[in-house]
Amino acid sequence: MCGIVAYIGPKEAYPVILKGLKRLEYRGYDSSGVALQNGDLRVYKKKGKVAELEESLVGKDLHSNIGIGHTRWATHGEPCDRNAHPHMSNDGRLAMIHNGIIENYAQIKSELLKKGYTFTSDTDTEVLLNFIQDIQQNNNCGLEEAVRIALKRVVGAYVIVLMDKDNPDTLIAARKGSPLVIGVGKGEHFLASDASPIIEYTKEVVYVNDYELAVIKADELILKNLGNEKITPYITKLDMELAAIEKDGYDHFMLKEIFEQPHTIFDCLRGRLDVNAGTITMAGVQNHIDQIKNANRILIIACGTSWHAGLVAEYVFEELCRIPVEVEYASEFRYRNPIVNKGDVIIAISQSGETADTLVALESAKEKGATIFGVVNVVGSSIARISHAGAYTHAGPEIGVASTKAFTAQLAVLTMIALKVGHEKGTIDETRYRKLLKELEEVPEKVSAALKLNDHIKALAEKYKDARDFLFLGRGYNFPIALEGALKLKEISYIHAEGYPAAEMKHGPIALVDETLPVVFVATKDSYHEKIVSNIQEIKARKGKVLAVISENDEIIEKMADDVMIVPFADELVAPLISVIPLQLLAYYIGIAKGCDVDKPRNLAKSVTVE
Ligand code: F6R
Repeated sequence: MCGIVAYIGPKEAYPVILKGLKRLEYRGYDSSGVALQNGDLRVYKKKGKVAELEESLVGKDLHSNIGIGHTRWATHGEPCDRNAHPHMSNDGRLAMIHNGIIENYAQIKSELLKKGYTFTSDTDTEVLLNFIQDIQQNNNCGLEEAVRIALKRVVGAYVIVLMDKDNPDTLIAARKGSPLVIGVGKGEHFLASDASPIIEYTKEVVYVNDYELAVIKADELILKNLGNEKITPYITKLDMELAAIEKDGYDHFMLKEIFEQPHTIFDCLRGRLDVNAGTITMAGVQNHIDQIKNANRILIIACGTSWHAGLVAEYVFEELCRIPVEVEYASEFRYRNPIVNKGDVIIAISQSGETADTLVALESAKEKGATIFGVVNVVGSSIARISHAGAYTHAGPEIGVASTKAFTAQLAVLTMIALKVGHEKGTIDETRYRKLLKELEEVPEKVSAALKLNDHIKALAEKYKDARDFLFLGRGYNFPIALEGALKLKEISYIHAEGYPAAEMKHGPIALVDETLPVVFVATKDSYHEKIVSNIQEIKARKGKVLAVISENDEIIEKMADDVMIVPFADELVAPLISVIPLQLLAYYIGIAKGCDVDKPRNLAKSVTVE
């Protein structure tokens, strides 16, 4: 949550920061601000989206070759100008941006209040900043030393970047638990929460690790640990193109990302799946294949949409590998003193690789001796780095806040892992294995065919946009897709939606059904087909409106349903990769029909870096 950007070098800092903030807006967008320096240190901030900040600054002299900027997702204090970042220290000398949460801020604040400090905001950030000022004054030390001392006392997560009026040629940054990337240019440096604000200037980046502090000048980057020992910065080359983070003619990133799926799934399978040779090549998995094969149990840890991918994987792994699987909400797993044994294998699923709940759950499981496999999209992210091994999903940057292409890439990777393990373990016969390889290979083409439903679904969205509630039902491999369809709809359109196993509906939710309730069935042809037909009849008998995602040539459901979304037939094991597509489009177009900001739904942020 929250996006940070900073620049130091010969360029005008403000345009670099503004563009960077727009790229990072998916991380939070309730207020934003910048600090610039040209003689004096000036801070400008504004409630609302980055565009509102930009508008408020038209005509101002913003000249500066150093600057910091922030786009906020509120944790402490309501969204307003006062609580927006950057914050200034009491003595007006320091400006700071922060992403994360300082858990012991109340105690530090009461100490500072006793010393006469005043606070203009309700944020934990302003407390940390004044704490740094106080340490510097009391110890008569430099800013770098004061930051180091302060961070040793702080409990919580942070990336901070500071500007000092008295040292206008230096930025100080530090990280624990929240992401920080430093772009290394020629005589200039760029700092950001992810690489998207940096990519158009340089491809050379340093991923700062936890407990590291950076002292950054235009032509110098010094990295240290909190013990003041120097660390050699490890420069990585970004393999991302600028086009990947732009809208490319689409109205929204979400729509662009939905339509990218034939390519992203193809990219994810490419170089791994070889149907002719009958092989799946995944180095991270191969090196640990015995551990997974012989696991007593697989624990899948994730949140939100990634958790739904985990639920599909539970069905797939149990079917193909005959290993018991449990799928855990990271936030619950972490706090309930879970039983983790040495023979357990943990699969962590995360698009951003920065989700705090998942990260903390993994850290505690790792301490208990579990082996961790990361299925992560963002290369070099925190979860990727704490995993023992894993596989990247290669979906490219996902900018729309609602996850779409990352989800299908997660499904593709997890299915490949299960197929590989099942094949080596001997729990899947050769014919079925070969058939499933072929089925996977055909997924991108079938997703392309499903995307042709675009106009039809746009019309359906108009028809159903005024519904107050929606129910999404599915069975077997499609049950998690019903959950995902409901999540997409509620986050994008703010319509209340519930996902449920279709058969479980009669144990409660059926009470909701009347002629006003649209019920979306994910009912592609599979081994549960006859059963789901009965569930549809149960809804129709109570006058519910049925919209169904079905396979081609399914005349039975086509006749029963009020509306259908027809997708190509696929083996039930890979069907979720295709059946989710119409539900993504439905959520998108209902959101648009209701005038919602689909790329930046209210109250949400792309990367949830607070617990
Ligand atoms: C929903 C959505 C969220 C994320 C969740 C986990 O569309 O995007 O539910 O799936 O916050 O995020 P990652 O996968 O980054 O760990």
